[in-house]
Amino acid sequence: MAMREIVVDGESILRKTSRPVEKFDEKLAILLDDMAETMYFENRGIGIAAVQVGILRRVFVVDVGDENGKIEFINPEIYEREGETLSYEGCLSCPGKNGYVERPTRIRVRAQNRKGEWFDMEATELLAICICHEYDHLDGILFTDKIVEVEEDEVES
Ligand code: CO
Repeated sequence: MAMREIVVDGESILRKTSRPVEKFDEKLAILLDDMAETMYFENRGIGIAAVQVGILRRVFVVDVGDENGKIEFINPEIYEREGETLSYEGCLSCPGKNGYVERPTRIRVRAQNRKGEWFDMEATELLAICICHEYDHLDGILFTDKIVEVEEDEVES
């Protein structure tokens, strides 16, 4: 495994649309392992998309510290979104920036794993939020595009 360099906001690749993965090979496995290492160690993130390490493929990895542990999503599709919540977010590619974003409270998503097998899952709370944040990266969207102004008393703690 190896650390990869994080692409930061301002670099045009972050605004591009990632392409589907077609080959479920060793190169993909290495990319996934490197993404996880980069997310966990240097940067302590809870999610990372391939474009953030300069690879325009529809791949992301999340680990929000719940019982699911690390989950790898390849060619994901969020096909149900329900509810609305305000989420205070940051991004490995936007150092020093944080803000509130509206996200669903429950989603359903299907995706392929590193072997190319399809899985389907429901996610709620932080996991749903994290998946939506990473999913946006695949289409060149950053959380900073979606920041809403919030009065302090609107925020539930
Ligand atoms: Co991000």
